[in-house]
Amino acid sequence: MQTTNSIILAIESSCDETSAAIVHNGKVISNIIATQKVHEQYGGVVPELASRAHLQQIVPVVEAAVKEAGISKTDITAVGFTQAPGLIGSLLVGACFAKGFAQALNIPLIAVHHMQAHVLAHFIEDPKPQFPFLCLTVSGGHTQIVLCHDHLHMEILGETLDDAAGEAFDKVAKMLNLPYPGGPLVDKHAQKGNPERFPFPIPDIKDYDFSFSGIKTSVLYFLQKQVKADPDFVKNNLDDICASVQYTIVKALMKKLEKAAKALKIKEIGIAGGVSANSGLRNALQAYGAKNNWNVYLPKFEYCTDNAAMIGIAAYYKLLNEQFADMNVVPSARSQWI
Ligand code: KG4
Ligand code: ZN
Repeated sequence: MQTTNSIILAIESSCDETSAAIVHNGKVISNIIATQKVHEQYGGVVPELASRAHLQQIVPVVEAAVKEAGISKTDITAVGFTQAPGLIGSLLVGACFAKGFAQALNIPLIAVHHMQAHVLAHFIEDPKPQFPFLCLTVSGGHTQIVLCHDHLHMEILGETLDDAAGEAFDKVAKMLNLPYPGGPLVDKHAQKGNPERFPFPIPDIKDYDFSFSGIKTSVLYFLQKQVKADPDFVKNNLDDICASVQYTIVKALMKKLEKAAKALKIKEIGIAGGVSANSGLRNALQAYGAKNNWNVYLPKFEYCTDNAAMIGIAAYYKLLNEQFADMNVVPSARSQWI
């Protein structure tokens, strides 16, 4: 297989975004993301509805990515897709499409791990981190501190023992009657509020692991008590509640990231995943970076939440290393690092 002059079609379908990208020799030339609106009314992602929406969207999304890239389908030399982790029905739609496409054009298939791709989003554009690179990967399903030795050799140093950081944002948003996904809305209100108004405990977990279920529970009890005394408490204090919760989650994340960076003496530090779009976390990374003399890396907003560009970049590095998948590869909801 020729690895130079590659044009990769990348597919992401692990949750509620159907996305396709074209990556030409490691450069993203199109990245189309269709977000599924159907889940809003249910307050969370409904897996069966997600699979059906992927089925409806995948062909037009791929068509749009190919068109925007200004290429024709037959120019594509490999297909990358999210193999794991994610919602199994959603992953299956992307995997089946990718396999069919690869088989029809007789081109190689590349299986990508979604969390590895979030980290590799840092290699889409300059400035790119130097190795060893430490990445805090924070999404709706994962919270990890990842030590990257090179593009494909990554080690998880710590992770959440319960809820993910994004899940904590979304669950608190639900308590505040904000629509799904609540993380970005908590962020929006937090920007107008006082982060020190309502102090919540910061969990003390061993090593580089995290826990967010305690924060969620303390916010729940706090709100129940306050609303009993004043039914309008949430409405009248929304900005300060959001700012205080965000401050607590960000502090818990940064405490561990700083601990790992100091212990390993690494100064190349980044954040990735949906929660890396959070303004409080982005500001905190800059501030900790200035204090500790780190080179900090923040992905562009379109590469924070789920997107196929990051899958395409991960597929590109796998292609350079000739790591191709078999046609009988199957998606996996919970697979570990691949
Ligand atoms: O990486 P991602 O798009 O999907 C997963 O792989 O899970 O992350 C989605 C998560 C959701 O929990 C969403 O609420 C959160 O990222 N998120 C945010 C912000 N933007 C997205 N959380 C806090 N502040 C934001 N600005
Ligand atoms: Zn993700």
